[in-house]
Amino acid sequence: MMRCGFWAVLSFLLVTSFPPGNAVPFPTQKPEATWHSPEYHILPPLREQADIQNKWTEERRARIPGILRKYGIDAWLVSQREYAEETVFWSLKSATQFSARRRTTMLFLADPSRGTPTSYTWTDNTAQVWTELRAVLATHVPKTIAINTHPEIAFSSGLHAGELEALRQGLGQEWASRFMCEPMLAVEYIATMPRGRTEWYRRLQLTAWAMISEAFSESVIQPGLSTTTDVEWWLRDKLRQMNYTTWFHPDVSIIDEHTWDLSTSGKSRRRGGKIISHGDMLHVDFGLTALGMNTDTQHLAYVLYPGDSDDQIPSGLREGLRKGNRAQDIVKSNMKVGRPGNEILKASLEQMRDEGIEGKVYCHPIGDWGHSAGTLIGMTNLQDGVPILGELPLLPDTYYSIELLVKHFVPERNATLSFPLEEDVIWSPVDSSWTWAFARQDRFHLVQSSSSVRSSQLHRDL
Ligand SMILES: *[C@@H]1O[C@H](CO)[C@@H](O)[C@H](O)[C@H]1NC(C)=O
Ligand SMILES: *[C@@H]1O[C@H](CO)[C@@H](O)[C@H](O)[C@H]1NC(C)=O
Repeated sequence: MMRCGFWAVLSFLLVTSFPPGNAVPFPTQKPEATWHSPEYHILPPLREQADIQNKWTEERRARIPGILRKYGIDAWLVSQREYAEETVFWSLKSATQFSARRRTTMLFLADPSRGTPTSYTWTDNTAQVWTELRAVLATHVPKTIAINTHPEIAFSSGLHAGELEALRQGLGQEWASRFMCEPMLAVEYIATMPRGRTEWYRRLQLTAWAMISEAFSESVIQPGLSTTTDVEWWLRDKLRQMNYTTWFHPDVSIIDEHTWDLSTSGKSRRRGGKIISHGDMLHVDFGLTALGMNTDTQHLAYVLYPGDSDDQIPSGLREGLRKGNRAQDIVKSNMKVGRPGNEILKASLEQMRDEGIEGKVYCHPIGDWGHSAGTLIGMTNLQDGVPILGELPLLPDTYYSIELLVKHFVPERNATLSFPLEEDVIWSPVDSSWTWAFARQDRFHLVQSSSSVRSSQLHRDL
């Protein structure tokens, strides 16, 4: 019902009132309450960004003793040398730290006695660090000392092999014999998002949507001339113009019966890209990075024939998108906190099958990393369950990318096409459910066929 209105407003804003760098205020509506145009968000000056990030880090570090107690661990040791940092270091550091210096050794305690600190940090290049660390351990006498040596989970395996040797020698057998690995410490620390981050995460999502909306419009794409590669590089340059970065090169493709084949683990790609034509269904996989957070979005667009309006989108394509939306709802509703990813995967695929939806589910946590810490709900090549990562419980106060595809026969194409979609969700503690970080795509981005004047004017952006 709102389709025409939304897109008319959107293209108006993008074409007429969005010179790069023009800020718009953050909308106060609840993101899911109404559709409104995605808007670019200007990042604050770096100094302000550092203050914002340091507050979040402080809030997160304050949770560490509670996490240790939850998993019954007395102490947690994170140790590294400059340029051989642990994975978890990047979520512990301050915004103005660009690497660990010398040997940076951190000790976290579950239950320090007599008002002593809950954490210690040494930055040293002498054996003094071991003397002092042994003294602290002798005061608190932890029975278990967790170290990050998990063989499979990246976030809990950051301790370098040489550094483990140094720890053993520096601390001696008495303490080294108490070393053990509890992977959930780093996983929960990295995965759990402080509340204050939500508002900014929504802004990043809005910006990602705004970039995709502009990329998938006649202001960037000239059918018959522009290639998928042009659009990818337009996105990269746009990110730079807006002072954002990314965690992967954007991927733009034209969906036909050969792309996103279910029988392969990935998708086929042509080097150099393809020329975009009228009637194409386009796909983008796009993420942006700012303030220590990452987004991950996959959207679809349709390239209208000259003179066509949005009700000329083939109904088979609309139906494929609708099926994809249904699959998203199914997965989201199965994402019960505490449940392992593999159970969520199984339940979701069963429900999809019951409803006649053929597809694949491959959702992942997102936040500090694009593919962040926490349980996985499928991978493209692992639809029967993911060993180890799929066995972890789903944590609250996290962000997830609902990533999946459905297959749908499109009569207008006489072919079965894939509809890959991806949208980020935020855990909402108020109603214990997942809400779209901004919204979810339920209508196609439209590339209008523009007049030659507009094409040449807008082609300058490419
Ligand atoms: C990007 O950063 C530059 C340099 O600080 C600044 O001049 C410019 O206004 C910023 N642009 C946006 C869109 O934030
Ligand atoms: C549709 O595709 C099938 C199999 O690819 C083919 O046999 C059939 O002739 C096609 N139908 C039309 C109308 O093109």
